[in-house]
Amino acid sequence: MMRELKILVVVVFFSLVTYWGVEPFAHSQMHKHVESGNFEYKNMPKPAEGDVAKGKELVMANCVACHSISSQSVPAPMDAVTASTTYGVNPPDLSNAGVIFASNYLAAFIADPAKASNVSHKFPEGSGKAHPMPSYNYMPAEDIASIVSYLKSIGKKELTPKEVFVDACGRCHAARYDNKVMGEKWTQIGQKQKFKYEKDSLAFDIQVLDYQANLSKYMGKLPPDLSMMLRARSENFLETFIENPQTQLAGTAMPAVGLTKDGYEKVMKHLENIGDPSKPERDSMGIWFVLYAAIFTVLAVLWKKSVWRKLH
Ligand code: HEC
Ligand code: HEC
Repeated sequence: MMRELKILVVVVFFSLVTYWGVEPFAHSQMHKHVESGNFEYKNMPKPAEGDVAKGKELVMANCVACHSISSQSVPAPMDAVTASTTYGVNPPDLSNAGVIFASNYLAAFIADPAKASNVSHKFPEGSGKAHPMPSYNYMPAEDIASIVSYLKSIGKKELTPKEVFVDACGRCHAARYDNKVMGEKWTQIGQKQKFKYEKDSLAFDIQVLDYQANLSKYMGKLPPDLSMMLRARSENFLETFIENPQTQLAGTAMPAVGLTKDGYEKVMKHLENIGDPSKPERDSMGIWFVLYAAIFTVLAVLWKKSVWRKLH
């Protein structure tokens, strides 16, 4: 009995050392810890309160040449695949840009997209390459502020996690486990539905492949599927990577997206919903499992005692 106890103590001791000592240490060596800026983008000045009517005029004159605004019945000028042929990526719908992106980021992005989203290194001067969205830095700051105010005024107050994901990440990242709505996966050109005819399904897949080919050319590589990303990466990594990808992967092609803190949390919620759909169920199972293990242990001890008693 004493010998068994000693072995148990030794095993428990080394398990705990590995769990609390070695693993976190190795982890911190492999993944550097980056301080989060709380999605405030402090280096970008807050725009003044703008004129909503003027902002609307400017948006209708400038932005809808590339972007749809579905909530205002402004259709996309071209389908996603054609857009990717022209721009490398499908410009996102602007219906909710004013609420999912921080105002100061949005103003800085409109003035200079490559600089604000931290991808200037992809468009070096003299290379002939330029960000597909023009810089509006020739506009007076009041006009840019008015555009931001207009976009804020039309944004929905309550967005679902999926809606934020689609506008902020969906043009670049697929999510093959996002299959609850139409039975098929999220692709960069939209939610694939279950088609009645195989040929329609294949036609859709071909469009996705065409889009991905253009996107890969624009980004230098195909952005990874995000279905399981929550399991592969730590919370700190995701938060700081999404806030400013360069801090974690210097030279990466992924732009900073400019989400608000709330927008970031919604995106994480969406990734949790698709990558780990049984989490709430499992969380509530936890306590029952502990209870089960406790009762089982007591029973096992009692049983062992009774067996040994008979033998002695
Ligand atoms: C010539 C086409 C074009 C025009 C005009 C244009 N955009 Fe864009 N815009 C794009 C493209 C392409 C992207 C996606 C770029 C990327 O993801 O690398 C984009 C991205 C954006 C984003 C997403 C930013 C982010 O952080 O994800 C916003 C917001 C935006 N545009 C707003 C505007 C506004 C406001 C205007 C008008 C003042 C405008 N755009 C005019 C092509 C355009
Ligand atoms: C304009 C395209 C674009 C947009 C928009 C975009 N990403 Fe990415 N993302 C990329 C590319 C390209 C990579 C691959 C980066 C690399 O390996 O250098 C990437 C990689 C990632 C990775 C993996 C990082 C790793 O550890 O390898 C995560 C996580 C990620 N993106 C999350 C997001 C989320 C969340 C959003 C929306 C808030 C988003 N991305 C929006 C292009 C994009």
